[in-house]
Amino acid sequence: MRIAVLGGDGFVGWPTALHLSNLGHDIHIVDNLSRRWIDTELGVQSLTPMDSIQERCRIWQEQTGRRIHFHLLNLATEYERLKAWLAEYRPDAVIHFAEQRAAPYSMKTDRHKVYTVDNNINATHNLLAALVETGINAHLVHLGTMGVYGYSTVGAPIPEGYLDVSIDTPAGPREQQILYPTRPGSVYHMTKSLDQIMFQFYAQNDGLRITDLHQGIVWGTHTDQTRRHEQLINRFDYDGDYGTVLNRFLIQAAIGYPLTVHGTGGQTRAFIHIQDSVRCIELALNDAPQAGERVRIFNQMTETHRVRDLAEMIARLTGAEVAYLPNPRKEADENELVVKNDQFLALGLEPITLAEGLLSEVVEVARKYAHRIDRSRVPAVSAWTRDLARRIEHDPEGNRLRSVS
Ligand SMILES: NC(=O)c1ccc[n+]([C@@H]2O[C@H](COP(=O)([O-])OP(=O)(O)OC[C@H]3O[C@@H](n4cnc5c(N)ncnc54)[C@H](O)[C@@H]3O)[C@@H](O)[C@H]2O)c1
Repeated sequence: MRIAVLGGDGFVGWPTALHLSNLGHDIHIVDNLSRRWIDTELGVQSLTPMDSIQERCRIWQEQTGRRIHFHLLNLATEYERLKAWLAEYRPDAVIHFAEQRAAPYSMKTDRHKVYTVDNNINATHNLLAALVETGINAHLVHLGTMGVYGYSTVGAPIPEGYLDVSIDTPAGPREQQILYPTRPGSVYHMTKSLDQIMFQFYAQNDGLRITDLHQGIVWGTHTDQTRRHEQLINRFDYDGDYGTVLNRFLIQAAIGYPLTVHGTGGQTRAFIHIQDSVRCIELALNDAPQAGERVRIFNQMTETHRVRDLAEMIARLTGAEVAYLPNPRKEADENELVVKNDQFLALGLEPITLAEGLLSEVVEVARKYAHRIDRSRVPAVSAWTRDLARRIEHDPEGNRLRSVS
């Protein structure tokens, strides 16, 4: 297949591009490199040293003989170029990763809220409009998030996209399936919830073939393909805005930083290893819906864990300390989370679990590149509200006090 990987320079996009190229697909990465600019804005860098996207593609070709093409294009602001590009390259499938994906970044200031909405909503809508206009009938696979559902729970498992409801009508109860209600907990999650509505509309109105993958928090760094060469290494975010919970605990353990648990750590979240993430995308690509079908929705996660249990497990494994800090997010202190993922299991996914030795691989990677870590960028300091901002802990290591004495 000819596959466009939109956002293919990112944390999940890059290993997906390699995985699919390795399977023999013709891969075209489209990215505006905004994520690299955000690193510059925040004054942080990936834990792992990333080469330019052009250099990464060159090394891949040198190692495998397979070519990955790169196209610099902003999906959100360059509609005409996007349309012309699709009409020229006519991909069979389009994988859409190209959004601003950090909840804390989306809540940092009003400017970051506006940017996240402008970028994510326009990127998704431009793509949908251009797919209709060019009439190329590509299968669109989008990366959404489990986080759209919020984390309050009624105790029943979260189904894969649709909820059976019974509506009382004057003629008696009527059964219907509706999109499982979203309850976004950040501006970022709000954009992903809005994406769902756009997909529903374009599938129903124009017969676009769409799969929406509601992904859990991705952990790990290497896949079989990124391990092949030092310069194919994946990016690894550890900072307070882009670093995600399990990966952050692992780098904190590696550099002797306290494991920063927000609030009681009673939050339960869904997780998936990066190798399973790329495999799920492959499985979803091979199972495309027909024109006229409703949006196919998968829960792309393999296990759920309570944050404090993860911290305690990593503390036991590594001897790290756990620091319970005020939570910068407005969210429930404690929640249960039960999620269905039957569809990927039925398609043959064999989940990689936390127990499988890959935790120590991440700690080793973090130790290797520990010299690249700026400890002052580790705390999460983007607060959800002004009130919460006043209570944030900027210095979990207590360095300020130590330097005074
Ligand atoms: N990383 C996770 O834990 C996780 C969890 C759930 C869902 N997701 C979703 O998966 C997708 C990929 O996540 P990631 O961790 O790889 O993010 P990332 O930030 O590393 O990658 C996103 C890529 O998209 C590009 N991009 C952003 N806006 C663009 C635009 N307007 N035009 C062109 N390119 C643009 C960025 O430059 C970047 O390379 C995201 O949509 C995210 O919401 C990620």
